[in-house]
Amino acid sequence: MSDQTATLTADLTINSWGMRAVQAMPGGVSSNFRMAEGPDQLVVSRARGAHLWDVAGQKYVDFTCGYGAILFGYADADINAAVAAQLELGYQVSATHTREVQLAEEISLLLPGMESVRFHTDGSEAVQTALRVARCATGRSKVICFAGHYHGWLPLGDESNLVVLPWNDIAALTQAFDADPEGYAAVITEATMCNNGCFEAAPGYLSVLRQMCTEHGSLFILDEMITGFRLGLQGAIGAYLLTGNLGPDLAIYGKALGGGLPIGLLAGKRRYMDVLASQAVNHSGTFNGNSLSIAAAVATLAKLRLRGQKFYMDLHERGRKLMADLEGLGREAGMPLQVRGPGPIFWVTLGEDPEALPVLGGRAVEPAAYQRFRQHLLARGVRVMPAGRWYVCASHSDDDIDFALAVVRASLGAMQEEAAE
Ligand SMILES: Cc1ncc(COP(=O)(O)O)c(C=O)c1O
Repeated sequence: MSDQTATLTADLTINSWGMRAVQAMPGGVSSNFRMAEGPDQLVVSRARGAHLWDVAGQKYVDFTCGYGAILFGYADADINAAVAAQLELGYQVSATHTREVQLAEEISLLLPGMESVRFHTDGSEAVQTALRVARCATGRSKVICFAGHYHGWLPLGDESNLVVLPWNDIAALTQAFDADPEGYAAVITEATMCNNGCFEAAPGYLSVLRQMCTEHGSLFILDEMITGFRLGLQGAIGAYLLTGNLGPDLAIYGKALGGGLPIGLLAGKRRYMDVLASQAVNHSGTFNGNSLSIAAAVATLAKLRLRGQKFYMDLHERGRKLMADLEGLGREAGMPLQVRGPGPIFWVTLGEDPEALPVLGGRAVEPAAYQRFRQHLLARGVRVMPAGRWYVCASHSDDDIDFALAVVRASLGAMQEEAAE
């Protein structure tokens, strides 16, 4: 990575692994979202710290961080050791196991108001359980969700029960509840609109939303898949002081909790979670609570506790500094580059925000200028997600950040040259 302005030599679009992937798997991927990276999509051979290597041996500084699942870095030594130890103790035992109980207790103590938890293999499943719990607890089927938010690939057919409103808009919520005061099982929301633009909740918005849910007998479901364990040890609940009467009834976690291994978690108030115990709602899964993911999550929490507040202060500072430096480069280049978000996750735009789409198709559509920018970054050794989202992790060193900034400067320059042609 010595010459920071040079593009990589390997042909990223046509490599035999890429072609084999497309032949063997629809779109060459196991998750449709990855197709958004387009023909330049990486075929990765290994990852460590904040770096990925592709099949041609090219190294990338990575700001996708496993779409938010990587908090410490790829192949973190402590997470690896915990998983290796669990391999020796056995896994997939199809029974409640000691670490699972330990983790459930620990999370309930950590997250205010979350008295009981159920483990899943990913966030989409945990969201589906949350919606079933809310519907069973209230005897209602309609759910309010918000344009631009994403809650996993929900079952087809559920759309007719989802009412999509604009977010951060109290008047829209009031209108919906006025029109059907006892009609909604729940309101589900991200605390920061991480999946589209990284807009933060307006001051007081989540509290008003909570109060309206209470008033109308609807459950408040907070989707912390991205914010959980990333904004702080108590995620958005801690960041937005959503405790006591203002706390959610159910909350969803995953991603960063699992230290890079697959996990989803539904946490909630016991009186609602009890519909699972009574079997009024079915929630089953061969791999739920699998010991390897649980061991990784236990190690993640142990590591976070050990490092204390300093861990999150550093993560926020690293993110915020990168945000400011990116904006500085945009100004220097005379490009409309803007940055928004809390720091550990943020959003970069080049003059155009993605469109806020309804929740089921809520993955952000990538504006053309940003796509070109991302391709320039990738060609120079920096990988970011499509559409604008960036994550930072604890392994991003000053050198990584300096390298990325040099690549951004070169990429903006290349885009200006293209525009002049
Ligand atoms: C806010 C939110 N909820 C739910 C999900 C679905 O989680 P998973 O991809 O683990 O199924 C995601 C995934 O990105 C998400 O960002």
